[in-house]
Amino acid sequence: MYFLLLLACTDPDKPGHSDSEIPESGDSGDSPAMAAPPSLIPRPSRMEAQEGSFVLTATTGIIASGDALATAELLAEGLRLSTGYPLPVTPGSDASGNIILDFDSSLPPEGYKLLVTPDGITLTAADGDGLFWATQSLRQLLPPENFQKKVVPDVAWVLPAVEVEDAPRFGWRGGMIDVARHFFTVEEVKRQIDLFALHKLNRLHLHLTDDQGWRIEILSWPQLTAIGGSTEVGGGEGGFYTQADYQELVAYAAARHILLIPELDFPGHAHAARASYGELNPDGLPLDLYTGEGVISTGLWLDGPSTRDFVEDVWTEIATITPGPYLHVGGDEAIDSDPDDYSAFLQWLQGVVQAQDKSLIGWDEVGTVELEAPFIAQYWWNAENARNAVAGGGQLIASPAAHCYLDMKYDRSNSFGQVWAGYVNVEDAYAWEPVLSGLEDADFMGVEAPLWTEMVTDEAQMDFMLWPRLAAEAEVGWTAAADRDWEDFRGRLATHGARLDNLNVGYYASPEVEWQP
Ligand code: ACM
Repeated sequence: MYFLLLLACTDPDKPGHSDSEIPESGDSGDSPAMAAPPSLIPRPSRMEAQEGSFVLTATTGIIASGDALATAELLAEGLRLSTGYPLPVTPGSDASGNIILDFDSSLPPEGYKLLVTPDGITLTAADGDGLFWATQSLRQLLPPENFQKKVVPDVAWVLPAVEVEDAPRFGWRGGMIDVARHFFTVEEVKRQIDLFALHKLNRLHLHLTDDQGWRIEILSWPQLTAIGGSTEVGGGEGGFYTQADYQELVAYAAARHILLIPELDFPGHAHAARASYGELNPDGLPLDLYTGEGVISTGLWLDGPSTRDFVEDVWTEIATITPGPYLHVGGDEAIDSDPDDYSAFLQWLQGVVQAQDKSLIGWDEVGTVELEAPFIAQYWWNAENARNAVAGGGQLIASPAAHCYLDMKYDRSNSFGQVWAGYVNVEDAYAWEPVLSGLEDADFMGVEAPLWTEMVTDEAQMDFMLWPRLAAEAEVGWTAAADRDWEDFRGRLATHGARLDNLNVGYYASPEVEWQP
């Protein structure tokens, strides 16, 4: 794949180009408006700038039908907020002056074509995912004010004429939010889902349980949330999702072509469960709640008479409300478990997952266990475990802490964040290759960046840790290795900052980037 960019349309001194007038017509072949040069994150497979620009106006329509309608409506809803234009969504085939969404089965999975001409805009894809990603590219071609949630007057809604042909390197491009150490509300998570979508991230992994909190309602074991959900790191009030809340998140993410991956972490990190029920403990008494910041990784009492019933019950309930094919069983840092007991438990747990017609995902420690293919190991620390998983027929998700752990500080100037895996600045989050030496792309589902929240207490801190590093990870997962270049990304990120500003994202304005005002 190659990248070709001709910036013929961007010379402000060219006759017919001026940024001082706002055009009134949808046809801007010789319009006075000037479009910014195309600058997309993640970088597409092929992009060719063309002569001229398209101007979105009060008469622009969106043309879609059938399976393209939902994506067309989401695009219209978003653009109506900032432009104030009606942008009606109607069936039809006339692209002139309009934005048309359509299917083309010859394109690759999740791929799309986006053609912006002075006369109209055409988005095509083989599947709904690709069509949705095409609309995200479209929005990045518009002035950054299109990301505002209120009408912005006096903006020329101009897009540069361009031809984009694009498809992802990996089918798994994700982020994880630890809602166990500190709880984050449905609305806070939805806001991040919107930001994931903008970056073509298609997996949201929720770390729902840990020592300091149990965050998902389990009808058959209600004290998990009544007690285990009642606090968090630092002793705050914690919280939890009802099953209806969780299903609302699943649906909100699905509408944005993002799959929610639920994690219940066993056999380690199980303190909140053991604090909720006496029967999960040898002496029959619940443990005291734990609200410290440090990792204690209290293990499940694997020999307990109720323990396997408990695990089977909670997974059965979660599987029932999880339409996606994956259940993340954790499996990390099982420091209390004998290795043989750990293996036997994981093998049994895979049976529980398979009985629900799902595939098991675990942290890379599951690579020490003989599991049945298919399964997925999430490589965070131990490359040998990851290689073992592949040798045993598994696939990997690349989340190496030195590049992907977004709870690490960016640099010495940050007032909070971890450092045990080193600083992870934006370049560290960008300039790395996910496929381990000797392995192949096919051994990897893709890339995921976890945000652990022992030190992340609120939405502002979450924004700061996630952005812009998650934009870098999105490009690692989407863009072919040969098309990635740090200097080029740094330049595009400088432009991207204005999009994040308009979205009110409190990102870290790292000195690695010459941010444009
Ligand atoms: C982990 O960071 N314990 C997966």
